[in-house]
Amino acid sequence: MQLNVSKFAIVQTLAFSLLLLLCPAWAALYRDNEDADDAQHPRLRQSRVYVELKEELDSSYWHDKAQSILADKLRQQQQLNEQRAKNIILFLGDGMSVHTIAATRAFMGDSSRQVYFERFPYVGLSKTYSVDERTPDSAATATAYLSGVKGNYGTIGVNAQVQRKHCLAATNPNTHTQSIAQWAQQAGKWAGLVTTARVTHASPAGVYAHTANRNWEYDSQITKDNCSAEANVDIARQLVEWPVGQQLRVVLGGGRANFRSRQLRDEQGIAGKRKDSRDLIKQWREQKSQLGAAGQYVWSRKGLLDTDLSKTDYLLGLFNVDHCPYHGDLKRDRLSLASPSLTEMTEAAIKLLSRNKQGFFLFVEGARIDMAHHDTKARKALEDTQEFARAVELARNLTSEQDTLIVVTSDHSHTMSYNGYPQRRQDIFSLAPNLATDEKPMTILSYANGPGYKNTYDAAGRTDLSKRNLSSADFEFPATVPLNSETHGAEDVAVFASGPYEHFFVGNYEQTTIPALMAFAANIGPFAEENINK
Ligand SMILES: *[C@@H]1O[C@H](CO)[C@@H](O)[C@H](O)[C@H]1NC(C)=O
Ligand SMILES: *[C@@H]1O[C@H](CO)[C@@H](O)[C@H](O)[C@H]1NC(C)=O
Ligand SMILES: *[C@@H]1O[C@H](CO)[C@@H](O)[C@H](O)[C@H]1NC(C)=O
Ligand SMILES: [Zn+2]
Repeated sequence: MQLNVSKFAIVQTLAFSLLLLLCPAWAALYRDNEDADDAQHPRLRQSRVYVELKEELDSSYWHDKAQSILADKLRQQQQLNEQRAKNIILFLGDGMSVHTIAATRAFMGDSSRQVYFERFPYVGLSKTYSVDERTPDSAATATAYLSGVKGNYGTIGVNAQVQRKHCLAATNPNTHTQSIAQWAQQAGKWAGLVTTARVTHASPAGVYAHTANRNWEYDSQITKDNCSAEANVDIARQLVEWPVGQQLRVVLGGGRANFRSRQLRDEQGIAGKRKDSRDLIKQWREQKSQLGAAGQYVWSRKGLLDTDLSKTDYLLGLFNVDHCPYHGDLKRDRLSLASPSLTEMTEAAIKLLSRNKQGFFLFVEGARIDMAHHDTKARKALEDTQEFARAVELARNLTSEQDTLIVVTSDHSHTMSYNGYPQRRQDIFSLAPNLATDEKPMTILSYANGPGYKNTYDAAGRTDLSKRNLSSADFEFPATVPLNSETHGAEDVAVFASGPYEHFFVGNYEQTTIPALMAFAANIGPFAEENINK
């Protein structure tokens, strides 16, 4: 058999060479195409080929890898996980595009690495557009992936009848959507949220708030838009005063200043931002004690780690006046004593919520992947993605695939691209081996727009970056178009699932499908078994 094949190959090659000899015009054309192909794939500055993984030279290595995946598929097919989910954890990597995940693999050491949640058995793609804009923001998408309804850009927890900043539109409760946290609470489950942003920021607000403008985090932000801060309740107040927020068992993140009046100073001596005289943190503590419940407020990493979670009914942790630090900065700036990591917050949340026999819904956001991309600081985006993956791993370790559904996704993409033929073991932040047509090097990571524009062009044309430190956490990667803040991207984002009904998450679907699938798996809310139109 093999002999026949190689005989055939020899005959084919001979025939082909003969044709080329007999037909010079065709031969020229063939060479031209080859040259054109080379021109599209410029020659390397150095033609060194790194082969460090010797096993990759063997065909059997690749086939064995595929064999083991196939064995997994056959096992999964025989035993679909169709138990009901007692617990649901939704991990949201804000702005975590597929490119971000692929670049994080290289950042972690090699392209063959898997960011932890890439091991989840089922993956789908979510379409992120909002009702009024193709490229969405974190507010409208939070409504979509938490309540199953698409709204307008900049609005949270309301349908598209509410336009952004329309003063009274969201005061009509008929426009309000219900989040899966509310469905969980109605079913007797506990609900909680963890974020590295302000807890009143767009994504976490999707868990509990209803507003015509994501910026209305505290009262004077509403009056700034010439709307009434009495008719509209700001997001911080909704968290403390409205039912879904009040019933959250765990709230961990940043944004302390939004909860206290300008006259008050916080634990670190920093004034609050509210124009009214409220101290919403005090209000929260009083509420819990009136309920006869053990409510614990903490503002530092030490406070969190010292909390006896077995004796805490409600936990509010506000670790920063504004957002929590970037994960990389926690180490670089020795901030780790002040702020807990995303993984530490996730651990505390799961331990507290697990005490409810009826289960829980937990929302965990790696919020600052998005913010690093807006600054075109690719290194910080990848560092935060790596930490986000560590939090997912810890959550999977602390729970069982038999009763806990974990879904990992993103709200929207960003414009970072990953290109330029880097060699296999090359540092992801370095320069691509091939020179551009201006004989200057190019970065492997770059953005379509954003503040990195200042590192892109100078009087001599394109900026030569060969003497710049691209590994620095604050290096702004090149961008084609100048913008103070890089924009989101409009393409689909990935959805990874592990646990009950994980197999339902394959395919390409509206972002609004995500809470429906999670609620079906847990048999709660409008997508419980009894409410399905079969
Ligand atoms: C608010 O109203 C004032 C006075 O009418 C006007 O000058 C200002 O532009 C308005 N601001 C906004 C955000 O609409
Ligand atoms: C999860 O468990 C594995 C296996 O025990 C362990 O190697 C890993 O370090 C754990 N991950 C985290 C983030 O705790
Ligand atoms: C570049 O930046 C990284 C990260 O900040 C630092 O560790 C390294 O020493 C810097 N390299 C040079 C040559 O300055
Ligand atoms: Zn953003």
